[in-house]
Amino acid sequence: MKTTVIFSLLCVAGALQTGASAQNISSPSGDLSLTFGLTPEGQPTYSLDYKGKNLVNRSRLGLKGDERDFTEGFEIVSVDTLSTDRTWQPVWGEYAEIRDNFREMAVNLKADKPEREMTVRFRLFDDGLGFRYEFPKQQQGSYLTLKDEATEFNFNGDHKLFCIPGDYDTDEYLWSETTFSSLPEAMGNYHRHSEAQRTGGNTIQTPMLLKTDDPVYVNVHEAALVNYPAMLLDVDTQENNMKAHLVPDRLGVAGYLQYPFQTPWRTLIVSDDARDILASQLILNLNEPCAIEDTSWIKPMKFMGVWWEMFTGNQKTWAYSDDYLAKPGVTDYTTLKPNGRHPANTANVKKYIDFAADHGIEGVLVEGWNEGWEDWASYRKNRQFLFDKAYPDFDVDELRDYAASKGVKLIMHHETAANAADYALQLDRAFQFMKDNGYDAVKTGYVGAIIPRSEHHTSQWMVDHVLDVAKRAADYKIMVDSHEAPRPTGLCRTWPNWLAQESARGGEFESMGGNPPSHTALLPFTRLKGGPMDYTPGLFETRLSYYNEGKDSQAGTTLARQLALYLTMPSPMQMACDLPENYERFPDAFQFIEDVPVDWSDSRYLEAEPARFITVARQDKHSDDWYVGAITDETPRTAVIDLSFLPKGQKFEATIYEDAPDADWKTNPQAYRIRTQKVDSKSVLRQPLASGGGAAIRLTPVR
Ligand code: NOJ
Ligand code: CA
Repeated sequence: MKTTVIFSLLCVAGALQTGASAQNISSPSGDLSLTFGLTPEGQPTYSLDYKGKNLVNRSRLGLKGDERDFTEGFEIVSVDTLSTDRTWQPVWGEYAEIRDNFREMAVNLKADKPEREMTVRFRLFDDGLGFRYEFPKQQQGSYLTLKDEATEFNFNGDHKLFCIPGDYDTDEYLWSETTFSSLPEAMGNYHRHSEAQRTGGNTIQTPMLLKTDDPVYVNVHEAALVNYPAMLLDVDTQENNMKAHLVPDRLGVAGYLQYPFQTPWRTLIVSDDARDILASQLILNLNEPCAIEDTSWIKPMKFMGVWWEMFTGNQKTWAYSDDYLAKPGVTDYTTLKPNGRHPANTANVKKYIDFAADHGIEGVLVEGWNEGWEDWASYRKNRQFLFDKAYPDFDVDELRDYAASKGVKLIMHHETAANAADYALQLDRAFQFMKDNGYDAVKTGYVGAIIPRSEHHTSQWMVDHVLDVAKRAADYKIMVDSHEAPRPTGLCRTWPNWLAQESARGGEFESMGGNPPSHTALLPFTRLKGGPMDYTPGLFETRLSYYNEGKDSQAGTTLARQLALYLTMPSPMQMACDLPENYERFPDAFQFIEDVPVDWSDSRYLEAEPARFITVARQDKHSDDWYVGAITDETPRTAVIDLSFLPKGQKFEATIYEDAPDADWKTNPQAYRIRTQKVDSKSVLRQPLASGGGAAIRLTPVR
């Protein structure tokens, strides 16, 4: 690890008297500069300039709890500054090496009557800002019942906003493209999710993206969300201001904190080039280094799943029986009448294992394997699922041996029905059961209203719970893919066994109204900045009418675009979501899914505009191959793919998976072509993309 650290300590004696001294730092390139100050009441503030122009006006800082108010009465005691330029190697990801280059300013503050101490630590990178609050042991009082965070992002104009409504429980919304002034109208268009609690009003979620007229792009989010609730943003649509809104528990308390503690980092990723937002590693840089010593067991993978069958409208069920009164651990399931529509059975799982083995897909997920799904629809009071009790038609031993003989890993599914309290109690037994039966990875799920009922999906208790699951999984050398968990904030750097999360509207919605093509052209600018998403690409049969005459739901994509998503939505755990029989209908297109890696040594964002288009090239971590993915929204487009990133003088064969000339996501989604072409670093490909389309390219050196 290359490390250069320069410390300096400024004792601002003058500030102690005036209490109003302004402090500045600039990013290494000088593009970003930050000014810290105090209001006449002693409230800390900051403002941010980008390329010599104000971006964030003077914005307030601080926290408020029942016992103490950390928003006023402060004086500056001292300011510590520091420059760091170092690189580190993630266990997996978009880059083999990540540069962490920033200037830091820690402003140490003190107030009296009552005595309070707080540090605001700013880190200014060339691609943005992170800051957090740190609280040492206080002279009086040992804890804080947190009620509110005063942090503001006070923007300087009626900018464009890409956002979803504030919700304490779910992120599974379509995105609005709006402005500060038209936000109320946009938020009014959302319906209320049945078991989730929407904030109402002009509250939105992070990560969100903002675009100024210049344009400057800003992603607002947080990093290292630990022991604290998730942050939403209350938007003042007149003042173009956003204020932190912490997710409370049902008693209205945002956090139970003991000194010393620190908050997550508040982050702004900033650039006038949209490609830089996608390339930014700022959120990972603000997380702690890897906490797992031996990471050799952490293996990025592609997987298939006994999964989409239950979404196709074919009446397939996660449940074994239609007897909704069956109770896990109480009912003898062998006495139940099977419903005959249960795909998680031994013979069917073997079919998936066979297909995966034949096509080099490492994992097979099985949903609906365990007792408890019969009760799904009824109101839950107690334990719903058992995580070590298989249905009678799912032979754990036989499948363990069969999968092992085929070199395929089974992936466990733990749907908790949001009973996180009970899941925590079953966890050790569940993980031991996995290890005993050859499972190295688990997909967790929290569908419904959280138990304990005091909590929300993104309140402090649940933030603790999901991190605890990832940590305890690491003890068992288990990899985790969590669904319906608090949105990621880069913790996968510290816990790289936490491969992926859902935490947004994923591919499953293609069976529930569909995701418009712009959705996947926006997620990488917003949700994905916190970490990889288990989006579940690879849908080849995009029409629900194929299964069901009555259904006319249509996925917002062409087939070729689904291949491109493996590049534009990077994740170390990438599903091939469709049914084996659908892949058998298009074996030449499936070849791309077979070939595409899930771990990269380098990534180059070639073209990008939020919700419009993305073109990215990535280098395989384990070969000299490069891959390119390009997607567009509803508007057909020609991607310009400049291959100058290829090594000079080396010829490559490009295998291009593209939309056929008559392809269109609505009318002709499965029209694709595959062609090959010789290219080198001087080539510039002009690649047509259909409406809702995309292209995927494999580049192999010609020896
Ligand atoms: C919602 C998850 O996102 C989905 O992938 C899963 O199949 C269902 N819950 C059932 O657990
Ligand atoms: Ca979900």
